[in-house]
Amino acid sequence: MTALTDTARPSLTASPPALGVIGVARLVLTDFRNYNHLSLHLDTRPVVLTGGNGAGKTNILEALSFLTAGRGLRGAKLADVGRRAPEESSDRPWAVSAEIETPAGSTRLGTGIEAATPDRRSVHVDGQAVKSVAALAQYVGAIWLTPAMDQIFTESPGERRRFLDRLVTVLDTAHASRCAAYDQAARRRARLFRDGVTDAAWYEALEDTLVRYGVAIAAARRDAIAKLNEVLAAAEGPFPSAHLSLSGQVDLWLESLAALDAEDAFREKLIASRLGWAQLGDIPTPEGPNRSDLVVVMAKTGRAASECSTGEQKALLVSIVLAHVQLQSDRRGYPPLLLLDEVAAHLDRDRRQHLFDRITRSGAQAWLTGTDISVFSGFGDAAQLFSVSDGKVSAASSATVVSYPSSLSHPHSKPN
Ligand SMILES: Nc1ncnc2c1ncn2[C@@H]1O[C@H](COP(=O)(O)OP(=O)(O)OP(=O)(O)O)[C@@H](O)[C@H]1O
Ligand SMILES: [Mg+2]
Repeated sequence: MTALTDTARPSLTASPPALGVIGVARLVLTDFRNYNHLSLHLDTRPVVLTGGNGAGKTNILEALSFLTAGRGLRGAKLADVGRRAPEESSDRPWAVSAEIETPAGSTRLGTGIEAATPDRRSVHVDGQAVKSVAALAQYVGAIWLTPAMDQIFTESPGERRRFLDRLVTVLDTAHASRCAAYDQAARRRARLFRDGVTDAAWYEALEDTLVRYGVAIAAARRDAIAKLNEVLAAAEGPFPSAHLSLSGQVDLWLESLAALDAEDAFREKLIASRLGWAQLGDIPTPEGPNRSDLVVVMAKTGRAASECSTGEQKALLVSIVLAHVQLQSDRRGYPPLLLLDEVAAHLDRDRRQHLFDRITRSGAQAWLTGTDISVFSGFGDAAQLFSVSDGKVSAASSATVVSYPSSLSHPHSKPN
């Protein structure tokens, strides 16, 4: 095994992307978490990162998750991400840059925080600064499953909404901007209440934004869920099929009303809540998509996901994510990046092999982590293997894995 901290290059030469394949061809981290400097060269096959606890596996997945809008897969504060030596308390600027191969060609994406603007994540596309982080959605979609999401079906609706909105954003790239515009209008409206503003005109402008974006958000979620359910219903294999639905006031209206009528109904509600505030003084939260919940049941039994076993819940999440990969491939012509942190080890052998085969067949560059390399033997040569240790990454040979050849070869595997 060769130490390749500076420029880790797998022994296989990168092959050009086939149509419908997307992947990170180069990933560079600078002062990111426990990485001082990391430069990885990759081909577009799935990537397996193995290493002991605290080695830096999840940090790499988190870095990739910053190639999309939002706060990454840990939901971290920007200041916590910069590499911090034990004796240091100051925030360091950090950077993630990646060369992404897509069917349309190669794109360089860069993000991080700069010393002059530590509160704002800067974004560069092909060397040019881009104003909005939401613009990243045009270039790469990424979805992830992490151990922290194991409780997603039992905790508060916020996590489920965030999961759903990530899925929707990958399919409908304007969704992140809509959600940002909605949240901003909701915050501004709450500030008007706090400041005791009584002039209706101030509220009406913001309520107009809430109504338009709120119904558009609910409609986009509804559309994505309907498509996901179709793919899920047709899926075969050992994963339990999930059925998704939405519960929320605007979602309910959209079941029976046209979008414009749903907007009117939402507007009336907002006006009524404003009048209620004038009488009672309680600052109202809009009853919009910010209150909706993603309801997941096991399709075969109708059992709520929250009542399923831990393993079943994990399997439901994996089946949703696999359906999503297929859906994005159908819609956008290529799959999203798939970040699966500590997922494989928790699946039984059948499901694990099915997961590897589905990933391989989809052409998705999935990034999978684990502490035990033998868990990934089912990939055979269809994945590129790396070993992570103390913030350093080296190429691991598939020969170190007891190999059970995968029944499928990846679109990018080199011919033997
Ligand atoms: N801002 C930071 N600066 C420096 N090191 C950090 C920072 N944030 C986290 N770390 C350290 O990075 C190390 C690697 O973390 P990471 O979560 O990537 O490990 P891992 O390989 O996924 O381990 P596990 O198998 O336990 O999940 C940890 O020791 C963690 O304390
Ligand atoms: Mg980890």
